[in-house]
Amino acid sequence: MRGELAARRALGVLACAALLSGCAGAPAALNPQGPVAARIADLWWLMFALAAVIFGGVMGLLAFALFHPRRGEPEPPGEPARGTGLIVGGGIVMPAAVLLVVFGFTLWTMTAIAAYAREPAVTVQVTGHQWWWEVRYPEQGFTTANEIHIPAGRPVRLELASADVVHNFWVPELHGKVDTVPGHTNTLWLQADQPGVYRGRCAEYCGTQHARMELLVVAEPPEQFQAWLEQQQQAPPAPTDPLLARGRQVFLGSACVYCHAIRGTNATSTFGPDLTHLASRRTLGAGALENTRANLAGWITNPHSVKPGNRMPPVVLNAEDLHALIAYLESLE
Ligand code: CUA
Repeated sequence: MRGELAARRALGVLACAALLSGCAGAPAALNPQGPVAARIADLWWLMFALAAVIFGGVMGLLAFALFHPRRGEPEPPGEPARGTGLIVGGGIVMPAAVLLVVFGFTLWTMTAIAAYAREPAVTVQVTGHQWWWEVRYPEQGFTTANEIHIPAGRPVRLELASADVVHNFWVPELHGKVDTVPGHTNTLWLQADQPGVYRGRCAEYCGTQHARMELLVVAEPPEQFQAWLEQQQQAPPAPTDPLLARGRQVFLGSACVYCHAIRGTNATSTFGPDLTHLASRRTLGAGALENTRANLAGWITNPHSVKPGNRMPPVVLNAEDLHALIAYLESLE
């Protein structure tokens, strides 16, 4: 298994280097990190191999024709034209055979992927919004955003929906692309064999900030995942520190509450990302910025400088209120 994984990784890196020199670090479908993505990569390699052989063959025939122009008399009238065999064989029989092989392998791949539907370790509801991902754990009863935690080595069931337009959920190293469609739920099974952070993105043009609609899948050892679930289920207690208490008051008294929720407070809107454990997340604005204090301040006061056209209005606050608000949000671990 480990050898197979290493071989796949080497192949993926080779393909990457050959085709797109400079894609180092980018998530690649040819670097599968789970069983579903591995089946899809196998299909890709089969199609690549067939296409390469056919391309080579056609180029060979072309070279032969160029360098060996046919001489001699044309066939006498009434005789069948020469080369009929090549046309029937190469133009009808071979394409039919190749398409049949690809069709058969595609069906087999689809069946193999469908077979991963089993008792899930966890079910996660993912909803695409312009331009961020709502992530809900229905059995545990909490919502987060842009970061999906899963237990490594276990099958996970994702229920994909959209709140507005068609988006497409894609984490190349773990599974194939699946559309999120308004009014319809698509189901996706995935598994990450090893703990790690896998980058994903929206893969269907969905408006101005389609390019900044990223997400992370964080695969953790089961006990670490369990601890994360328990921590996310807790509502943060009302702060006793005066600065944080003021920050909470600023939050609840500003426009923030029209879009965001923080459990344990009166802010319950679901229009924007749930901020209950904002400080525990790695990015801001669906992958637009690293989640740091300075970036958070910039994001709140001028989100359109980072992500023009996004739905969050700038929040105008005096320096002290902003300082308190950021201290409060940063405390939401
Ligand atoms: Cu959402 Cu593109």
